Amino acid sequence: MERVLACVLVVALAGSASGDLSPPEKSYKILMLLPVSSKSHNRVFQPLAEGLANRGHKVVMLTNIPVASKHPNISEVNHGLSYFEDAKRNMFEVRKNENFDGLKKTILSFAKNLYKVQAVMELYKRRKEFDLIVVNYKFNEMVYPFVHEVPFITIATPGIDPHQSAILGNILSPSYVPEIMFVPRSFPMSAYDRFKSILWLLVSGFTWRHWDVVPLIQKEISTQFPNLPPLLEIERNQSLTLMNTHFSIATVVPLLPSQVQVGAMHCRHGKPLAQDLESWLAGAGTAGVIYFSLGSVTRGESMPPNYRQTFLEAFRRLPQRILWKYEGQLEGAPDNVKISSWLPQQDILAHHNVKVFISHGGLLSLQESIFHATPLLVLPIFGDQPRNGKFVENSEIGHLLVWEELTADRIVAALTDIVCNPKFKENVNRVSASLRDQPTTPQEQAVYWTEYVIRHRGALQLRSPATQLSWVEFLMLDIVCYLLLASLMLILVIHRMMWTGSSVLFGDRAKKKTD
Ligand SMILES: *[C@@H]1O[C@H](CO)[C@@H](O)[C@H](O)[C@H]1NC(C)=O
Ligand SMILES: *[C@@H]1O[C@H](CO)[C@@H](O)[C@H](O)[C@H]1NC(C)=O
Repeated sequence: MERVLACVLVVALAGSASGDLSPPEKSYKILMLLPVSSKSHNRVFQPLAEGLANRGHKVVMLTNIPVASKHPNISEVNHGLSYFEDAKRNMFEVRKNENFDGLKKTILSFAKNLYKVQAVMELYKRRKEFDLIVVNYKFNEMVYPFVHEVPFITIATPGIDPHQSAILGNILSPSYVPEIMFVPRSFPMSAYDRFKSILWLLVSGFTWRHWDVVPLIQKEISTQFPNLPPLLEIERNQSLTLMNTHFSIATVVPLLPSQVQVGAMHCRHGKPLAQDLESWLAGAGTAGVIYFSLGSVTRGESMPPNYRQTFLEAFRRLPQRILWKYEGQLEGAPDNVKISSWLPQQDILAHHNVKVFISHGGLLSLQESIFHATPLLVLPIFGDQPRNGKFVENSEIGHLLVWEELTADRIVAALTDIVCNPKFKENVNRVSASLRDQPTTPQEQAVYWTEYVIRHRGALQLRSPATQLSWVEFLMLDIVCYLLLASLMLILVIHRMMWTGSSVLFGDRAKKKTD
């Protein structure tokens, strides 16, 4: 009997995983706002846009990095504003002096100029025709005029962000939840790390939201929309957030119903490779292949020459073949190295002969590698990549190396260990199985909750009452004050009583003695 039930259950789950949501009520109009974006941010939006478009909804995307979806139900409005040069600097330069200056300049110039673009202003005037607006959370605060009095949700492309969680009323404790850019050495955190964690959380949140960036955006927006409530107040009206994470591949945290995990939405099963690539991978024999890519923003030729030489020296000593996503000329590469400026990453990671992925630790690359159960060697460059690298190291699905300490010996040792020690493959298989074991695909999950918010007109039932409280009320500081006061009074009263009591007892006796 139990067996039969289990079977039925398995079939039911498999049925829903291959996937049918019940048909939509009607065709909705959905506007996606990601004026400040990147290729990787767009790749998080694309599966949701396509999932919605497949169900007959009409999706409009505001961006300047074309998503290039050929879907007839998706259209794009290109605002045509360009990013500041130093926002697209060489990533190895960014690494040396990591700051947000270029990004900040871009954001401020967008705040100033976005609504001067005619196509954008037209879209703005039509905003109430849309059933829902989807906003790329963070770096896009200048779009909040669009969502005032229109139901909207956000997509959190970096996954769990404690600042964003707090906006929805879920304050995550920095005692165990790292801020995106703060990387503790280990879990549980030491007292010193917890001190740094809370300091970083407060300082980074305050700097971005109340001092250095948002107030400047606010100034630009206020001159254009004088009657609008403050941007940060509009932001609090988000109905829901789709987070690019999953508990299998990140710190486990308590979530509200309005925080939906849709990590690895873009991951898909591998497709057959082009014949020449397939035979090259198979030709590596039992030694296998190492795949090397630093993602879409870091071009191979921008790598400083000493690092390049170090890699080539290491690769020369390895029995594996190395497939390197590399743009430009590569002098002196040994025979076991093949370069190409574009490679179908997911199909390569899905290939059984690919043993290790050398990655910068971008979140999407990490998700793909885990989805396809390939162990990693991570060399983080900037942003959330150190955090992702730490995850790889702590969960023993690969190794983490630091650019400044890079030597050929270290590369060879790390790669050899990952290939030869079976624990890495076993661990990544386990994490991968957990990531894939979901009642619906993350894409369906995202589509379902997007439609849910529309069906329920902003879904106010998802709001946490915590959003109504001030900091003092939330942390119960007023109550703590009352309790402290009451204790103080009690102590005073007791002290007084003891003093009078003792003078009655001992004072009189002392008096008698002297008599
Ligand atoms: C586009 O939307 C329409 C309904 O608005 C739907 O009938 C059609 O199937 C959709 N196209 C695709 C390719 O899914
Ligand atoms: C929040 O949403 C409600 C309902 O749509 C609306 O009445 C209110 O003005 C919005 N507040 C802000 C600050 O946008």
